[in-house]
Amino acid sequence: MKNIISPLTWNNGILSLLDQRKLPLEEIIVENRTVEDAYNSIKDMVVRGAPLIGFTGIFGMALFARTNKEANVEDYIKAADYLNSSRPTAVNLAYELERCVEIVKSAFSNNTSLEIESLLVKFGYEQLDLIHRDNLSMAETAMKDLENRLGKKKYRIMTLCNTGYLACGPMGTALGVISHLYENDRVEHVYASETRPYMQGIRLTSYELKKQNIPHDIVVEGSFSYLMKNKLIDAIFIGADRIVRNGDTANKIGSSTLSIVAKHYGVPFFVVAPTSSFDFSSESGESIPIEMRDQNEILFVREQRVAPLETSALNPSFDVTDAECITGIICEEGIISPVSKDNLLKITGRK
Ligand code: MRU
Repeated sequence: MKNIISPLTWNNGILSLLDQRKLPLEEIIVENRTVEDAYNSIKDMVVRGAPLIGFTGIFGMALFARTNKEANVEDYIKAADYLNSSRPTAVNLAYELERCVEIVKSAFSNNTSLEIESLLVKFGYEQLDLIHRDNLSMAETAMKDLENRLGKKKYRIMTLCNTGYLACGPMGTALGVISHLYENDRVEHVYASETRPYMQGIRLTSYELKKQNIPHDIVVEGSFSYLMKNKLIDAIFIGADRIVRNGDTANKIGSSTLSIVAKHYGVPFFVVAPTSSFDFSSESGESIPIEMRDQNEILFVREQRVAPLETSALNPSFDVTDAECITGIICEEGIISPVSKDNLLKITGRK
């Protein structure tokens, strides 16, 4: 892709992050030099999107190693716990941090603890390469599945939130599928849901679609039924912050509503996510922690208050889509469809 600014780069102990709070109007880089900087960048949503939050966690651990040369294993575990407390719903952060702690433990037991920073940086690059390969294979799986279901033609696709390279690093999950379909001349039009209140759809997805010249319209969340009743959507692709054993999936607030409307009108609804977004320790969506965010994200638009002064707001940032409303979950191991615990374990090879 041309004219793309990488959302995350590491250079000589500085973690540079594209400030997604300022997009699309300004392209500003925030430099992180300490683990606290990385924590704040995740918490304040300089970066966001499940995989990118995980990668920021890895490089945050590398920053900790760089600035705490005397740290022992316990200190690293505390740093990982600290980073993990920055945002609760996307499980990728815990997944990557657990692996960082394993790297640290093995460095200490092999007397290579002086190299921890470079080991963590190497791991970070490996994970970025891996997600690129995985995203590509998910996109190919999705294209084949759509061709089987709907025939070889141009599709009208709907998506919600932002799941592109801004959320993943090199490529995207659901938006990666859309880019891949477009490159293969399989996209007629994209409908990107604005994603209130943080506006990831209107600000970030349209920014990415525009950069790739993919024809699209922004739609409001209230239009779901209109669009599907009037047969304007062939298929829906969303990402995931956490997928549990029975296939229940946490994603940006509004995803569950979209899935229910899709089921009602018979529109195929797909979740696209790497297995680092799977939480095999939870049986069902009921145990997924849902992040409650600041009510001012709803009460204000940019700096302008739009609600009456005495009004408050409730701001759950994610919801759980029931497995029964999902046509297929696409991961790097293939497609899980129909979505069931047995199929999920079979396709991923987990127990
Ligand atoms: O609050 P955000 O912007 O971090 O939420 C992001 C989402 O819900 C994405 O859809 C999800 O993380 C998938 S990212 C490939």
